[in-house]
Amino acid sequence: MGEEELESENGRVSVLFVCLGNICRSPLAEGAFRGLVKEAGLEGRFEVDSAGTSGYHDGEGPDPRTVEVARRRGITLDGVSRRITAADLRRFDFILAMDGDNLSELERLAGRAGIDAPIRLLREYDPEADGDMEVPDPYFGGARGFERVQDIVERSCEALLAGIRRERGW
Ligand code: 4NP
Repeated sequence: MGEEELESENGRVSVLFVCLGNICRSPLAEGAFRGLVKEAGLEGRFEVDSAGTSGYHDGEGPDPRTVEVARRRGITLDGVSRRITAADLRRFDFILAMDGDNLSELERLAGRAGIDAPIRLLREYDPEADGDMEVPDPYFGGARGFERVQDIVERSCEALLAGIRRERGW
């Protein structure tokens, strides 16, 4: 990817995490990435957000189990669920889907709108993915599933940030 392509209009690198409901996985990924960016002192260089492919939970805060697992890792989540738009697909430099269904839906939306969007699976960055490319949906399970998601998104976000920093020379 060329330098101009990596840089959005305001000069920041923009990163959007996407799952189905935008109340479990993508808020955890957004929170983890924000935390890492803050730790690195790079807040001014990034724009970070999350969205869902469904509108099921529009306007709601994250699931209480999501809030709890993030809190235990020192992360406060303050986003509100929203559905992805075509404008997002045009605007973000990195659009990171949590699972194959999210990826297919994003590709379908982008195709319909004629947008060549930079959509990838987040776990492409997970050094421990070991062929398992999905962040499992924890919604219908217990707290352990949320811990597992948190571990996966932390590892993946660390590698994603390291890759961007390497590419940018930051
Ligand atoms: P998320 O989890 O996509 O990680 O936010 C889900 C949230 C809600 C539903 C499914 C998954 N739901 O069916 O309402």
